Amino acid sequence: MSEPRNVEPAAEASRVTATLRVNGEDHTVVFPVHHTLLEVLREGCGLTGTKHGCELGECGACAVLLDGRPVLSCLVLAAEAAGHEVETVEGLQEGNRLHPLQAAFADLGAAQCGYCTPGILMTAKALLAQNPEPTAEEIEEALAGNLCRCTGYRKIVQAVAWAAAILRGEEERPPEEAFLGSPLPEVRR
Ligand code: FES
Ligand code: FES
Repeated sequence: MSEPRNVEPAAEASRVTATLRVNGEDHTVVFPVHHTLLEVLREGCGLTGTKHGCELGECGACAVLLDGRPVLSCLVLAAEAAGHEVETVEGLQEGNRLHPLQAAFADLGAAQCGYCTPGILMTAKALLAQNPEPTAEEIEEALAGNLCRCTGYRKIVQAVAWAAAILRGEEERPPEEAFLGSPLPEVRR
């Protein structure tokens, strides 16, 4: 990463003023120099879609894109992000239109409590930008650093594959069981 730009010492020695470019908009924020990108996105920019999880680089809940690449925002100093393009989950939707990843997660029930979902969506977005037709194994590998304690991951992988197909302009749809579950076995009386 290049040297931080647009960072000025603030009146108080331990604080800086920086302009962060997030989802195409400039946010000029003042924050303690040691604060992470996660903290400043949430507390300085008011963008609370990015989630606090472990703050140790282990859960992936805080993943955002920095110049198009997924990073764990709990491990990046906010000052280092100045002068770079930051993308968060708030930037996925276009007007009233959900991004295909968001729509596929919603339709398939790939988000349950939803706490892991913003980090997974952003990591998946970066994957699909690099690899528009990933295999299930490639999706699993890309999302290996994003922990989910609710879904069992199967629907997440299906949702990413479905969104990839939609983005490629294909009409592929997951099997009906993916939406409704397997039919119940017939009971003999
Ligand atoms: S909060 Fe950043 S990896 Fe867990
Ligand atoms: S949906 Fe709850 S942690 Fe993933």
